[in-house]
Amino acid sequence: MTPRQAIATRVPPARYLLVSLAFVGAAASAFAQAQAPAPASASAKTWIADAPRMEAHLRTAEVVSLEDIGTGVTLPRRGHLKPAEPFESLVWKVIPPGVRGGHWESYKSEIAAYELDKLLGMNMVPPAVEREVEGKVGAAIMWLESTTSVKQRGGKVPTGPAFGRPIRVMQMFDNLIGNPDRNAGNILIDKANNVILIDHSRAFTTDQDLPWKFQRVDAELWRALKALTPEQLTAALGQWLDAGAIRAIIGRRDRMAAAVDKLVSKKGAAATIIP
Ligand SMILES: Nc1ncnc2c1ncn2[C@@H]1O[C@H](COP(=O)(O)OP(=O)(O)O)[C@@H](O)[C@H]1O
Ligand SMILES: [Mg+2]
Repeated sequence: MTPRQAIATRVPPARYLLVSLAFVGAAASAFAQAQAPAPASASAKTWIADAPRMEAHLRTAEVVSLEDIGTGVTLPRRGHLKPAEPFESLVWKVIPPGVRGGHWESYKSEIAAYELDKLLGMNMVPPAVEREVEGKVGAAIMWLESTTSVKQRGGKVPTGPAFGRPIRVMQMFDNLIGNPDRNAGNILIDKANNVILIDHSRAFTTDQDLPWKFQRVDAELWRALKALTPEQLTAALGQWLDAGAIRAIIGRRDRMAAAVDKLVSKKGAAATIIP
């Protein structure tokens, strides 16, 4: 076992936050699917319409000032941009790859999470690219206006029709990427009730254990996960993750498959794989 694996197998207290969520959304998901899409003006997911433009802005806009944000140990900063269109600021994370304070951390994991979200067609992780600011290389991530974190909303993960499917998708994604750090500060909600996933710097460990227990999977994302190949992952993520980290994604996917098979034989496919 490598030190990275040994560290990743420890269960942080935050892990228990979402365990109960596996049960929350089942009844609600049918309603969520039937809901009309929210008005575009209320959605913070403005990158979806033109992701290449947003990525280019992250790479090339001038960072005119940097301010500290949050209280996190990774000390992320907010950079204000010129021009201020199509968005006015970015999150700036340097975090060189390595083990720090008992956790694997890397700015590259932020970019890998975004690239994997794109590969899977999730549209829940804001654009993240590599760039240099003040002589340092790090991840530049699109800052989303008009969002509040679940922590700012009192710490309770939202329930109800709009949230069943996205929360289930979030848990599947976190298991796939081996993300032990989905605490309330790392889930943003916009005015259209979209769930947005941030802060993946601790993800993509080489540990193949699943960080989260689950009872159900989303049918569409599950089809996409089952179809993932090492070749596809290497093509999409090879610039950001080493071979061991990519193998671990497939390893966790296979463990998810074994867990799904077990759930299906116990409760049936209809109660496990939710359309
Ligand atoms: N892309 C973003 N858009 C809007 N707010 C963000 C974004 N990324 C981070 N934040 C805000 O900054 C806080 C800290 O960022 P985060 O990436 O979670 O780093 P850390 O947990 O290491 O401090 C978040 O809880 C959130 O309130
Ligand atoms: Mg955080």
